[in-house]
Amino acid sequence: MNIKDIINKKENKLELTKEEIEYVVSNYVNGSISDEDMTLLLSAITKNDMTTEETYNLTIAMLNSGDKIDLSSIEGVKIDKHSTGGIGDKTTFVVLPLAASLGVKIAKMSGRGLGYTGGTIDKLESIPGFKTTITNEEFIKEVNDINMAIVSQTENLVPADKKIYALRDVTGNVESIPLIASSIMSKKLASGSDKIVLDVKVGKGAFMKNLEDAKRLSRIMVDIGNKHGKETIAILTNMDYPLGNTVGNSLEVIDAIKTLEGKGDKNFTNLCIILASYMVSLSKSISVEDAIDMVKTNLYNGEGLKKFKEFIKYQGGDLEGLKTSNSIEIYSNKSGYLTDIDTMKLALLVRDLGAGRVNKNDNIDHTVGVELFKHINDKVEANDLLLKVYTNKEINTLEYLNLFTISDKNIDDIKIVFDIIK
Ligand code: URA
Repeated sequence: MNIKDIINKKENKLELTKEEIEYVVSNYVNGSISDEDMTLLLSAITKNDMTTEETYNLTIAMLNSGDKIDLSSIEGVKIDKHSTGGIGDKTTFVVLPLAASLGVKIAKMSGRGLGYTGGTIDKLESIPGFKTTITNEEFIKEVNDINMAIVSQTENLVPADKKIYALRDVTGNVESIPLIASSIMSKKLASGSDKIVLDVKVGKGAFMKNLEDAKRLSRIMVDIGNKHGKETIAILTNMDYPLGNTVGNSLEVIDAIKTLEGKGDKNFTNLCIILASYMVSLSKSISVEDAIDMVKTNLYNGEGLKKFKEFIKYQGGDLEGLKTSNSIEIYSNKSGYLTDIDTMKLALLVRDLGAGRVNKNDNIDHTVGVELFKHINDKVEANDLLLKVYTNKEINTLEYLNLFTISDKNIDDIKIVFDIIK
């Protein structure tokens, strides 16, 4: 077998065999295939796509490149949740404690930020003392003790993805459905849970800009999970606008706490209720409607918040020590209805405040970000507070003001969930 022939095949839109895919993954990981050749192949995949069979084989070849986490010593059904990534996406901090407070077992491995803003691990690291690296034994004990744990992915969890993702990132091959599906699902399958809830983001602030692509990505990921014996559900959710009230690491933790206190943004709270309910439904094999009632109860009686605090304390974190930078307030210069927010531009601005990374090894500033005071379709008066920008840097306030479109008429209500794929 040789890489040139395999590249040729994909460039000519032919289907690669399981053996060819295994050959590529193992030889790229061990350094026998060069970055140049791998780039040619990844570009051919981005351009010419892969079949479901090829994508499944790629996922399994990647899965087999490293460790697989054994969660068999945790009693009961283990449920994982994964978001394809959004702006201000702190759902994990609300959804997991709600589900865990109802007895769902969640052993979650998360990553750092890849795109514009911090990842779950970055956000947790904004909490002084919080340990994102613990031993496997401690990880399992924590889930047995309090039903949930969130740790940083171990070094040897799908090393093929680490190497391939880094190359995709610098060669313009991130936005390929089979490459995204295999990247996500190889890590999910390696993490050892029994069932998986995927939150597939759709819209201006997501990888998948339209519903059709999001459905295709979801279908492939769900099929890969199910084929591997892990019941998988994809929930396609709206990512046109920032999620919740904040974007930025410590600010998102604070916003999650507010949401668990029942004082969060309405749409974000509903999104969290839906995601947690699917986890509860899968875990207990009950209807989603019944699960929604249970989740709402534990949101409004404070059990979810109690579980979040228990989890933070268990991993050494001190919520009292959360810090934010000084803030600059941005006021509206006209009245009307908020009909649009430039979500991607907002994400870039927040990244440039220091909340996200440009390069993989950049340090991030946990204390910076933004807090939104108006959401889509809210009535806005001239001089109303739109946004607080938390930073110690000088900023161009007009750039922030221009993120908001204020019109005379409001728009149709926005959907939170577009589709469910099983
Ligand atoms: N998240 C991942 O883990 N991989 C991708 O390729 C895209 C999003």
